[in-house]
Amino acid sequence: MPLTPTEKLVWDDQRLTDPHRQSDKARRVQAMFDEIAPTYERVNRVLSAGRDGYWRRRAVELAKITKDDRVLDLACGTGDFARAFASVGPAGVVGCDFAQQMLAQAITRPGSTNSTAIRWSAADALALPFADDTFTVASCAFGVRNWQDLDRGLREMYRVLRPGGRAVILEFSMPRAPLVGPLYRFYFRHVLPRVATWISRDRCGAYRYLPASVGTFMDGEGMMGALRKAGFSRVMQRRLTFGIVTVYVAGKER
Ligand SMILES: C[S@@+](CC[C@H](N)C(=O)[O-])C[C@H]1O[C@@H](n2cnc3c(N)ncnc32)[C@H](O)[C@@H]1O
Repeated sequence: MPLTPTEKLVWDDQRLTDPHRQSDKARRVQAMFDEIAPTYERVNRVLSAGRDGYWRRRAVELAKITKDDRVLDLACGTGDFARAFASVGPAGVVGCDFAQQMLAQAITRPGSTNSTAIRWSAADALALPFADDTFTVASCAFGVRNWQDLDRGLREMYRVLRPGGRAVILEFSMPRAPLVGPLYRFYFRHVLPRVATWISRDRCGAYRYLPASVGTFMDGEGMMGALRKAGFSRVMQRRLTFGIVTVYVAGKER
């Protein structure tokens, strides 16, 4: 159901104390991404100082893509991760997202040269319109944190993967090094929301939701445990750029 005008400020102080416990989180997440879609990629480039492209490329490397792979990129947004997969030449890539305006941006972007064609699908990651055992890789960059129900989403990833397939998840985490940790936390909580809100002219609290949702979400062992609970094995993590983000790779047994 669309949000009414009075619900326009989708993330207020009270909701931001624990965004993951909001019963209508999915609806608010969807409205928020529809609102920021036109400036989403520009904000990412500026605020990560161009590192976000590197993070996606490293995650694709860790997926060890071959020409036979069929990739499903969940919560694909404007398609950066799906295009990074397509550029290394798998058999096929499907990007799916439930925010129509994010997908509308994805469709207009040129693919990289020599890339595999990408198919876009409007779909909820928690109820995927794909049969069991369809894909060899299920990926998600900066998406799982936004799901209403993480366990259900991970079970869906597992279900649509063929035995022998793997899940590749890229998500924010917090750097732990003595100097970098506090500096980054200050940047992430105080500088980033102001600059991002200014660039995007956002009025729905999207860039206050970002640090609040990362700060109250699991990373490291917590995420690896959630992947095992969903049925995955051979779960590994790789922290990148001082641990600002982490890539998780997990397998579905043959
Ligand atoms: C931070 S963006 C990430 C986009 C892209 N993966 C990237 O790397 O830039 C998060 C995306 O997750 C999508 N999303 C969140 N929950 C979803 C769900 N349950 N089903 C499908 N998409 C979802 C949002 O609509 C949004 O486009």
